[in-house]
Amino acid sequence: MNILGIESSCDDTAAAVLTPEGVQSNIISSQLVHEAYGGIVPELASRAHHKTISRTVQQALDQADRSLSQMDAIAVTQGPGLMGSLLVGLSFAKGLALANGIPLVGVNHIDAHMYANFVSQPPVYPFVCLTVSGGHTRLVHAEAPFSYKVLGRTRDDAAGEAFDKIGKILGLSYPAGPEIDRLAQGGDPSFHDFPKAMLGEGLEFSFSGLKTSVLYYVQEKGKAFVEANMENICASVSEAITSVLAVKLRRAVKETGVEVMLLAGGVSANSMLRNKVEKVSRDLGVELRVPPIEYCTDNAAMIAITGKLKAMRGEYDGPDLKPFARLESR
Ligand code: KG4
Ligand code: ZN
Repeated sequence: MNILGIESSCDDTAAAVLTPEGVQSNIISSQLVHEAYGGIVPELASRAHHKTISRTVQQALDQADRSLSQMDAIAVTQGPGLMGSLLVGLSFAKGLALANGIPLVGVNHIDAHMYANFVSQPPVYPFVCLTVSGGHTRLVHAEAPFSYKVLGRTRDDAAGEAFDKIGKILGLSYPAGPEIDRLAQGGDPSFHDFPKAMLGEGLEFSFSGLKTSVLYYVQEKGKAFVEANMENICASVSEAITSVLAVKLRRAVKETGVEVMLLAGGVSANSMLRNKVEKVSRDLGVELRVPPIEYCTDNAAMIAITGKLKAMRGEYDGPDLKPFARLESR
């Protein structure tokens, strides 16, 4: 099956071509316009998607050396995400599908992060997956394709959102996750003991208390102190976030008894998280899978693989396919 994947849920316009031989192209056009605002401006995101989507899709086809007529399905992100951004990708995909008589498949963006693990490796069940991105933090127990139970999710900020918002408080530019990760590698994680919410119980997450705690800490210590100790503070913040993630993943694996755990989403690039999760894998003797980094952050190859898995089950959509901004609003 040849699949064209299209992703536009947030601030990356992406298109990819997946064939039986693997991913032939994975084009990502990132929007730099938001950096000056310290966060994503939805209206600007939609406009930027609109400007680049046609070019991005064409580039994906060109690089894959395939034409649209060779595609067996078009997979597109249906949600969750920014409504205006989703509408651009969805309308574009519907137009392409209708005009060329190609079947359409709507894809859930968070599921796609999880199934990104199956882009380069064959699917394996059952598994526990920790998905950590800028918009979502979710622990899932899957027993079969598209049959899973959500074990826990965040009650407030997502893990990536926590990194980004705390980075803003520390004076770092958006998105701050990768920069905090880099700085943390030169710092002492035990420099300051930031709160690790809900560490001892259950499988839910909460990161907004940590954000407030860092804000008070910065206000109390002052700018000069923060700048002089940036590496140590970043290491301590990373320690707080990643230890909660790793502890809950360990608990979920133990409770479900699975032999495979998956990591997914942009935050799975975090080096401290990777170290901790690798230790969980060694301690419990459980296989750990993490997608290559280009499939961890927002991309369309993950949309294409999820679309393929749905298409193989005969799950196609029509021109009435609707976007959904939040999972719950579906
Ligand atoms: O999956 P993704 O590209 O987009 C969403 O679906 O949200 O994730 C982006 C998030 C951002 O919050 C970014 O700061 C975070 O992933 N991120 C990281 C790292 N690389 C990306 N956070 C911590 N450490 C990293 N190395
Ligand atoms: Zn994402």
